[in-house]
Amino acid sequence: MIRAKILGLGSYVPPRVVRNDEIPFLDDQHVPQETRQTETNDEWIRARTGIEERRYVDTAAGVTTSDLALEASRRALEDAGVDAKEIDCIILGTLSPDIHFPGTAVFLQSKLGIDGEDGCACYDIRQQCSGFVYGLEMADAFIRTGKYRKVLLVGAELHSNALDFTTRGRDVMVLFGDGAGAVVVGAVESDDEREGVLYTHAAADGSGAWNLYLKVFDISKSPIVHYDATAKLDAEQQYPQMVGKKVFLHAVRNMVVATNRALEKTGLTWKDIDWFVPHQANLRINEAVVEYAEIPKDKALNTIMWYGNTTAATVPLTIDHWRKEGRVKKGDLVLSTVFGAGFTWGSAIFRL
Ligand code: UT7
Repeated sequence: MIRAKILGLGSYVPPRVVRNDEIPFLDDQHVPQETRQTETNDEWIRARTGIEERRYVDTAAGVTTSDLALEASRRALEDAGVDAKEIDCIILGTLSPDIHFPGTAVFLQSKLGIDGEDGCACYDIRQQCSGFVYGLEMADAFIRTGKYRKVLLVGAELHSNALDFTTRGRDVMVLFGDGAGAVVVGAVESDDEREGVLYTHAAADGSGAWNLYLKVFDISKSPIVHYDATAKLDAEQQYPQMVGKKVFLHAVRNMVVATNRALEKTGLTWKDIDWFVPHQANLRINEAVVEYAEIPKDKALNTIMWYGNTTAATVPLTIDHWRKEGRVKKGDLVLSTVFGAGFTWGSAIFRL
């Protein structure tokens, strides 16, 4: 029987570390100013979110999301011992694509040097913070059905160029960071139900769509982009908007239900599972999920303190971070649960 297995894992964050106490003084090019630009502070950010620092790209260097994806992909391919030419499908999750279209996966394909007439299938998926679990569900289905043999699944986000560095946007701006994570998912012959990807479940509730969104354009209007981006007149159009408390409550509730469902459906218990890797949106969300779903605290892995919310990248980034720290090892069993804009959410259980 064909099963999908994680063959390799990699992540990348840009080198610039931005600490909470720098945030109030940054202008929209992320350049520190002498005077305060935003009314916020380290104490508020730590207490409400658990974030201490995040990474930003060098805005002046013209970095794109596909550049971050490329670094993470190269590391995952090397870890898997797979040549980029062997990849027959790329699935890329992002809410910060290089441009509106074409999708970012094709830019990544070119940067990997595997474009051309025999180029592999390239999918962009738009499930925001839930991108990794949605993408894993697709990769698993493609591989099990024999459609593809080696799928490169990437979550990559460049948030810092699209945040409102004023008090108006502080509730969202302080949360997000730049980064990417990738896995190579490959076909293996095995009848062992505890090998590879054991379980995935993806869900959505569109009634939550306007609780977390970024418009940029409005297709019902002509011209579709009608704001003055230079003067930053229309903040609603060009910056993410969030009803934070509502998103928080739905995140906790759905992540608890999805996590318990994953155990019920597989018959596994926390004795079988090595690590719980939740999406990294807010440390308080993850602590609440751990409490309500009765997850052993020492099995929960977080990295939001150091990277903030990197949306589709948080799950592979967190696993890779803790692997580098020596906690997570090959062969460990991971239960990952995510929640994000849409609302979308899901869980997956997979062996590394
Ligand atoms: O990635 C997937 C989805 N995202 C999430 O899951 C995020 C979910 N939501 C959250 O994490 C939280 O709702 C936030 C961290 C965004 C906000 O925390 P909160 O405890 O819900 O705070 P709040 O929105 O109720 O704001 C409390 C106060 C307000 O002031 P007043 O009205 O009490 O005077 C805000 O204006 O804190 C103020 N505030 C800030 N103060 C300093 C909001 N943002 C900031 C800030 N610095 N950055």
